[in-house]
Formats: sequence, C-alpha cells, structure tokens
Amino acid sequence: MFDRSRLTALLARERAAYADLHPRSAAAYERARHLFGRVPMTWMNKTAAGFPIYFETAYGARVTDVDGHEYVDFCLGDTGAMAGHAPAPVVEAVTRRLAERGGLATMLPTEEADVVGAELARRFGVPQWSFTLTATDANRWAIRLLRAVTGRPRILVNSYCYHGSVDESLIVVGPDGQAQSREGNVGAPYDVTETSRVAEYNDLDGLARELAHGDVAAVLMEPALTNIGIVLPEPGYLAGVRELTRQHGTYLVNDETHTFSAGPGGATAAWDLQPDVVTIGKAIGGGIPIGAYGLTEELAAALSGRSDLDLVDMGGVGGTLAGNPLSLTAARATLGEVLTDAAFAGMVEVATGFATGARKIIEGYGLPWSVSQLGARVEYRFASPAPRSGGESAAHADAELEDYLHAYLANRGVLLTPFHNMALACPQTTHDDVARHHDIFTAALGELAG
Ligand SMILES: Cc1ncc(COP(=O)(O)O)c(C=O)c1O
Repeated sequence: MFDRSRLTALLARERAAYADLHPRSAAAYERARHLFGRVPMTWMNKTAAGFPIYFETAYGARVTDVDGHEYVDFCLGDTGAMAGHAPAPVVEAVTRRLAERGGLATMLPTEEADVVGAELARRFGVPQWSFTLTATDANRWAIRLLRAVTGRPRILVNSYCYHGSVDESLIVVGPDGQAQSREGNVGAPYDVTETSRVAEYNDLDGLARELAHGDVAAVLMEPALTNIGIVLPEPGYLAGVRELTRQHGTYLVNDETHTFSAGPGGATAAWDLQPDVVTIGKAIGGGIPIGAYGLTEELAAALSGRSDLDLVDMGGVGGTLAGNPLSLTAARATLGEVLTDAAFAGMVEVATGFATGARKIIEGYGLPWSVSQLGARVEYRFASPAPRSGGESAAHADAELEDYLHAYLANRGVLLTPFHNMALACPQTTHDDVARHHDIFTAALGELAG
C-alpha cells in the first residue's frame, strides 16, 4: 500500500514542524505544572504531535491559536460545536439572560425549559424530557430508570461503542467471541461482564442470543456507530433491533449525541426509528454544557407510577445544576435559530462534497480505504469496504498513519477530530473549507505514496 518507513520518517518531520510552528502552545503546555496531565482534562492529551494547540479564538468554523495560526475546524469540539463556535443567537441569548435576569443556580424551573422539551419532542418523537449537564449523565440516568422499571440488571451495548464514561458501556466482544472489559477501562467498580451484555453492531443473531437470557433492561446504542469511525446500519438491521427488543421486553435507547448529524431530529427522525428513550447532549446547547433524555409517554407513566422509586431526592438521578437556565436558554436558541432544518440542509450538502471529494482522492491513490457519511458528518477509515461492525473497524485502526494525517493537516491549517478521521460541517462550513482540506489531504497522500 505504502512504505511504512516512509510514513515513520514523514510523521517525525511533521511533528518537528508542528513543534516549530507552535512555540507558544508548547510553552503553555510546559508551564502547566498544576494540571493533571498538563491539561484541564486528560483527553486533551490526545494529540498527533505531543502537545495540544492552545486556542485563542473560535467563531463559526474557524479557530485561531496563540501562535497566530488560523484553522478550518472540522473537529468542532467533537460535535459540541456542531452549531458552529459561539453562534451569535446563542451568545446573545445567554448573555442577555445572565445580564438581565441573573440566577444560574436557583434550583427553580424557568419557563423556557418546556419550550426546549417541546422542541426536542417534536424533533425526536419522544414526548417527556429531562435535562442533565452531559450526555454521559443522560445515559447514566436513563439506564438507571430502565433497570428500575424492568427489574432487570443488565444493559446491552454494541462492541466499541462510546456513550461517555458510562461504566456499563466499557465492554467489547473479545477475540474469542466472548464479552470482556474494554482495554484500558479505568477503575471499573465491578466486572463489566456481570452488569452488561455486548453484541457487534449489525449482528442481529448476536443480539438475539444475548437478549434471550431475559436479563437485559435496555439496549443502549447509537443508531449508527460514530466513535470507531462511522459504521452505518445494513438494510433491516435497525428494524431487527426494534423487533428483537420488543420481543424480549427490553427497552431501546437511541443515543443521538453524535448521530444528531443525520438531520434536525437525528437518525431517529431521518430513519423513522421508534426508540423508547432518546439521549442527547453536546450540540443542542450550542457549546454550553447540556444533556437530555426523552421518554415515551408509556415509560414516563410507568416510572411515575412507581412510589418505591425516589425520583426527587437521593434516589440516584441527580445533578444540582442540571436543567439550569443557561443550558436551557442556549438550547432554545440553538434549536430555534441555529441548527434549523435549513441549516442542516446546507451542512449536509457541504459534507456530501467532503465525502465525494475524499473518495475520489483515495481512489486516485488506489488506497484500500473507505469514506462514510452520516448527514453533516464524514469519516475516512483505513478499510475497504467500510467496516460493518465496531470490532471490524477497531481492527483497522492505524495510530501512526492517523497521527501523520492529523499533524500534516494541522500544520497547514485544518483540524480533524483528534480521536479518528472525522470531519463535521457546521452552518458556517463552506465548500472552500472542504477544498482546503482536500488539497492538503491530496498532498499528504502524495508524499506518502512517494
Ligand atoms: C454517542 C455519545 N454519547 C455520549 C457521549 C458523552 O458525551 P459527554 O462527553 O458530553 O458526556 C459521547 C461523547 O463523545 C458520545 O459520542
């Protein structure tokens, strides 16, 4: 395919160039002696070249750094900024809210909360919403509720899923086909194979086998996997999941945190899915922290009817600052004025240009790679055909190659998500931005081809 020693040499050259181009970021990183891992959150150490770029400004699809460089940002906070960085309607709404009405931690509801709930209900089709501060918490709380209402202990997820730092989700199908803890699982409170079950995405037989144990409260899944590259559903798979979950009395949770890229109502609306619960976070706040989970009427009634469950005080569904007016004001503005139907149409068009062009470039170099698109989100993966499960996709990971592409692009003003090769379009992303990526991507592959 290409010469690995050339790749190693090119990566070393790009890392050296990155260090030369970013002296102020390097110095800030070096100085940060009182941050665990030198960064405010340890995942910020996921960089292609040894230290992160320190940003100075971020608006729309553009980021500038402390060394004076400007970037086209296709990472967009790994979806947190799918509405674009600092969207004007959100900035205006939260600034006004704070300045004119104060009070961000009153533990009292505000009138706009129901407006946001109603809009989420309209978009995602489930009518009863509750708010958190992160998508992780939305998932945590949803699965607690579903264990409670079913009296069943286990949660089933897809292998190589990501649903935030949810203990129950850190499980994969091992090389022997048996469930095992995901590599690197930090401080697991218990053996995850005792609390969870796992099936490969697109594997209905595997799902049926696991559900047949009769102990699974809920399947927690992304309608398409997005955190191990994009893995799209094969025809009939999602309908099969719904049928099997119903057959086995298991609730179905669609985590739309990333698949929201599929359209205004996420994959749930785009593909006419009927989950019992939708969880979401990140993008709906336009950059302000928020998470949310929505329940069907029937499920909400079943939970409300359970006098043994403490849903109000110490029962385990908490979060003092959840549902705060800043998050809800931001969500109201984001959903009402930024991530509108029209905005999605433009974002998907730009993303389609990204996917089409990337495919052509990859084909031009005869590389056995694939490009997958989920609405406004595109991903290239070092496998062809595109992987059909998380396990298959994980088997094609290539950290050195990924670092080379990421460093090459960053050195020339383009950012991808640091975790894999994901590019997301926000309302301000343009076809010129895509062309910029494609020119640099072509050059990077050209050097690799030699
Ligand atoms: C599908 C999915 N769910 C949940 C989360 C967790 O989101 P947060 O980090 O906001 O808790 C993520 C984060 O990437 C995600 O991709």
